[in-house]
Amino acid sequence: MYICGNILSMMNRNFIPKNLNNIQEKGQYTWKSPSNIALVKYWGKSDPQLPKNPSISFTLDACHTITTLHFQKKEVNDDDFSFDIFFEGKKKEDFKPKIAGFFERIHTYMPFLKAYHFEIHSENSFPHSSGIASSASGLSAIALCLMSMEKLMNPAMEQEFFNNKASFLARLGSGSAARSIEGELVVWGEHKEVLGSSNLYGVTLEQEIHPVFKKYQDTILLVDKGEKVVSSTVGHQLMHKHPFAEQRFEQAHENVSAMLSVLKRGDLDRFVEIVESEALTLHAMMMTSMPYFILMKPNTLAIIQKIWAFRARSKSHVCFTLDAGANVHVLYPENEKEVVLEFIEKELVDFCQKKHYICDRAGNGAIELNGDAQIYTELEKQ
Ligand code: DP6
Repeated sequence: MYICGNILSMMNRNFIPKNLNNIQEKGQYTWKSPSNIALVKYWGKSDPQLPKNPSISFTLDACHTITTLHFQKKEVNDDDFSFDIFFEGKKKEDFKPKIAGFFERIHTYMPFLKAYHFEIHSENSFPHSSGIASSASGLSAIALCLMSMEKLMNPAMEQEFFNNKASFLARLGSGSAARSIEGELVVWGEHKEVLGSSNLYGVTLEQEIHPVFKKYQDTILLVDKGEKVVSSTVGHQLMHKHPFAEQRFEQAHENVSAMLSVLKRGDLDRFVEIVESEALTLHAMMMTSMPYFILMKPNTLAIIQKIWAFRARSKSHVCFTLDAGANVHVLYPENEKEVVLEFIEKELVDFCQKKHYICDRAGNGAIELNGDAQIYTELEKQ
């Protein structure tokens, strides 16, 4: 089922640029890139950031990162990456190791990186301390800015290649970031029924999608805004010796198959079943790792119970999913917006920290922003 090493390295090689002309001294690009929420989860990977199973997600709309990348050719060529990173206007030394690691991993595919000094300015639409992972939107935004640079040096580049490589680079920063380039539904990881699917990058789902899934709603209940006790990176590693790993990876393949059919038919009952089972399986994997850990909080469970009770007494198709954290994503079709929001306001907000929640929905992917939206830069002062 998986492509063999040789083919994989050939495909990797496709992303190494051959002819880069039109080298620019300086410039800047700004991209707005969304977060995403997985319906079938990615949990477990091998080097370099290859998923152990296919996953499928809704690209989000409101939760996004805006990043401006300024670049200036170095006067003296050296062998180092040179960059500064600013988050919401403040210089962030503590973000540097993560970005340096990312540059290191993508350098083969972006050979011009060491020839420039970069200034990266980022801001999120959601509060930093909301417990919402910003790595998917943050790393996809940087990847897209770098792709704009590459396109400048290779204007003949086609849109499909641009998107695939942006996703490929983003993946090398954070796995789930591979699914944050396009919308509304993205598959990442090889699956026999998804033509063109790849472990290297995410692809938009091209099949027929039932209209009930258009603008699907995701209300994110902020249950715990604190640091996670175990990072996703560590969690993924714990899948290596996990007693149920192989069955889980197989199940994800089956759930992607089932989800493809649900998305075509508009079968909301089955949708609810797959999505909730995936969320609970993800957390079951955490609870059965060695060492084991729990990321849900009492309020996460209280919300789940309330959602089940509400669904049992109403005709609603509201359901929940979870990321690697305590927050709850409440998913429902657009035509149920009014009733579900009323239910959330009445019965769920008390379980959220400071009653905070974010209303989001499935969206269309990243967009390049023009000069007006660009953020103040140190380089401009020079
Ligand atoms: C639980 O993408 O954050 O959200 O590849 O180590 O950066 P790294 O992990 P990350 O994993 C998150 C996985 C998940 C499920 C999912 O989004 O599919």
